[in-house]
Amino acid sequence: MSENIEAGSRSGGDIEAGSRSGGDIEAWWSRALFYQVYPRSFYDSNGDGFGDLDGVTAKMGYIASLGVDAIWLNPVMVSPMADNGYDVADPRDVDPLFGGIGALDRLTDAAHAAGIKVTMDLVPNHTSSAHPWFQAALAAGPGSDARERYIFRDGVGPGGTQPPNNWVSIFGGPAWSRIDEADGNPGQWYLHLFDAEQPDLNWDNPEVFEDLEKTLRFWLERGIDGFRIDVAHGMAKPPGLPDMAAIKAEVLLADIDDDPRFNNDGVHDIHRQIRQVFDDYANAVAIGEVWVYDNEQFAQYLRPDELHLAFNFRLLRAEFDAEDIRGAIENSLTAAHIADATPSWTLANHDVDRAPTRYGGGDAGLDRAKAMTMAMLALPGAVFIYNGEELGLPNVDLPDEALRDPVWERSGHTRRGRDASRIPVPWDGDAPPFGFSDNPDTWLPLPADWAALTVEKQDDDPASALAFYRRAIELRCRRGEFEGSTIEWLDSPADTIAFRRDGGLVCVLNAGTRAIALPDGDVLLASAELIDGELPPDAAAWLV
Ligand code: GLC
Repeated sequence: MSENIEAGSRSGGDIEAGSRSGGDIEAWWSRALFYQVYPRSFYDSNGDGFGDLDGVTAKMGYIASLGVDAIWLNPVMVSPMADNGYDVADPRDVDPLFGGIGALDRLTDAAHAAGIKVTMDLVPNHTSSAHPWFQAALAAGPGSDARERYIFRDGVGPGGTQPPNNWVSIFGGPAWSRIDEADGNPGQWYLHLFDAEQPDLNWDNPEVFEDLEKTLRFWLERGIDGFRIDVAHGMAKPPGLPDMAAIKAEVLLADIDDDPRFNNDGVHDIHRQIRQVFDDYANAVAIGEVWVYDNEQFAQYLRPDELHLAFNFRLLRAEFDAEDIRGAIENSLTAAHIADATPSWTLANHDVDRAPTRYGGGDAGLDRAKAMTMAMLALPGAVFIYNGEELGLPNVDLPDEALRDPVWERSGHTRRGRDASRIPVPWDGDAPPFGFSDNPDTWLPLPADWAALTVEKQDDDPASALAFYRRAIELRCRRGEFEGSTIEWLDSPADTIAFRRDGGLVCVLNAGTRAIALPDGDVLLASAELIDGELPPDAAAWLV
């Protein structure tokens, strides 16, 4: 017996998503598998200890062997690297650390020759404090046009010694820093929702969009296939910059509480402006980083004149628990369905703990990550996989002195930051840096106990995580059973989930503690060996 659910409302009908008419369903990205490349950690081609774009090009054969449709490159624009490139000083050039713009052209050519699209990261909420605009704003003084490109305010209290409001930075500490004016005296404050070296732009100033449009066209004309838009629920600030009612220091997520820093109504006009530029480039995709919890509000970002895709982080935030996983899937499908848009799924990125670690670590953590991957790949829509996920890499505990994430300093050493999931990819050999670089002094150290996790070791091992990811991706790409835009929930034992795609694929995931019988059908793939035909705990299976 099966239970039909419409858009998560449990009221009959299938859950449907991505059926918008007008051609989106045909778009290349509508069921694409994106591979996120964190360039400084991928492969170092010049021995400086940092990965670079020629390194990505050198490994294009590997990327193609995964069967991915597109790459998403984390920021490579010119940057002092206070936040690993999310502090952009020149948005229309590539940083020399990554090999300059010629290296990006080489990468794009190689990717396109392999049939792989290239998307870049775009950072519209803020610039680097080294950006010429910010430097001009510092020099020009209070009340100047140059200051109007950012959010400068006088301080409050005697002598203006207190910040203009109580907002806190996502990285820790106040979201305001005070500058010294040209005369050397302390003067105005400027807003930075992230690091002090990432001043927020003033999106009420039309010059800000005009410049972003130049940036978009610059890269799209050069053959880039789209952008992942950083903090896409940021940018617009509320009039009067009211205080936060509750201080939520570390939270990028706009949830049911009002947080004046994010998800303000004005953000949708900004997305409409951005979308108009994209519409001049038939196949370009705009993917938003949208940390918004409410389904209706999330769906607003996916209206036909806003973003094509938006990361829904519910699945990533779900525990390895059947009810939680099912709720995350239902809500993500519902949110996409409200806008008649395509859902996007992810279990990992450069900002969060690696999935095997989140699910408990060790063998069980990896087993669960593989099971979750099968659930994710079985769903309709676009999927994002983060480099190293296919190797089953866990987080790495780094010593204090190795930490590079600005979160560590800004939080007064109370939060270790995100370095643990940004460790370079281990390619080959038996000792660090495992072929990532010729230079033993890599920007983050690789742990010695990754010897068994290298690409070289996993490449020919049919039991490896890599072989599993390749097989799963290939099946998702090749088999007709993965088609369609709906899922139907099937009855299944407690602590498990089971659903059927309209194309016919059945996915079963066991988050319980006992093996379970599988429904009728041929097993296409299982993330763990079946026990007497039954699916063990911490595993998933696909049946047709
Ligand atoms: C996004 C990025 C994160 C960065 C922040 C500020 O959340 O994913 O890495 O630190 O924006 O740009």
